[in-house]
Amino acid sequence: TKPIIIDCDPGHDDAIAILLALAHPEQLEIKGITTVGGNQTLEKITNNALKILSFVGANVPVAKGAKGPLLGALVTGEEAHGESGMDGPVLPPSRFRAIEVGAVEFIRHQLLSSDEPITLVPIGPLTNIATLIRAYPELKSRIAGISMMGGGIAYGNVTRTAEFNIYVDPEAAQIVFESGIPITMSGLDVTDKAAIFDEEIEALKTRGPVSVMVGELLDFYSIYGKKMGYHGNALHDPCAIAWLLQPELFHSKMLDVTIETQGTYTRGMTVGDLRTKTDREPNVNVLLDVNRDAFIRLIYDALAILDAR
Ligand code: BDR
Ligand code: CA
Repeated sequence: TKPIIIDCDPGHDDAIAILLALAHPEQLEIKGITTVGGNQTLEKITNNALKILSFVGANVPVAKGAKGPLLGALVTGEEAHGESGMDGPVLPPSRFRAIEVGAVEFIRHQLLSSDEPITLVPIGPLTNIATLIRAYPELKSRIAGISMMGGGIAYGNVTRTAEFNIYVDPEAAQIVFESGIPITMSGLDVTDKAAIFDEEIEALKTRGPVSVMVGELLDFYSIYGKKMGYHGNALHDPCAIAWLLQPELFHSKMLDVTIETQGTYTRGMTVGDLRTKTDREPNVNVLLDVNRDAFIRLIYDALAILDAR
């Protein structure tokens, strides 16, 4: 099994990513979940993480991280994720509480005490991961790799060029992308193709309790998707977990990717070098396509596993 830490801001799609990982303990050992201000305030999204874990009875340590980006004020994703950050289903209060130690110290401790290098799975702004790298660069060798959701080579979503997770904290993203740690990027190029359609959401609501709850999450999430004119609802964050479980579902390309922190129209853009001959070594494995049907099956099967527990 591969040890992982999920760094997240739940978030409808974050919640589904967590559930997907929890369904596969034979492949992924979740050492912990760390939270970061993003889709909503740190308090709200941490509470959401705890509620999801409690709903499925998974007592995984949850450590709170940064309230906001390295520079400036937090921009939330309230438009897409609602006032709670995970609007839709009414979930019972969590039986669990966050641990006392903060996210960065928690990750440090896990990296130091693990026999094997750990894979980090950031699916929110990269603030915690950048803070860790800056504070403890010597720990980089204990990180097996980063499978992250964020960015988009072709286009953005918050702006025409910037995707939300990178837009919220471009300085953090720059530190992570320049760290030399092997990165696999699930950006909008692939995650928009990992869409779930209305009839598939309806089907979830005829199944067990975890599937129904996810169906309700997606009903709310779809309101925003429809408003934006999307065909189906992109399951962004689950891609970063799905790639760890079934990399063969994806098509990818190694690219040199740098983060724009300045531009008037491009702050927060993941700038990929698509030229055949370039002056820098590619630093990121960029996912570009996915077998959508097989991906949705992976999600369905995972929820069925959790329904049966
Ligand atoms: C990303 O932003 C958030 O709204 C989602 O949880 C996902 O991580 C998509 O742009
Ligand atoms: Ca997220």
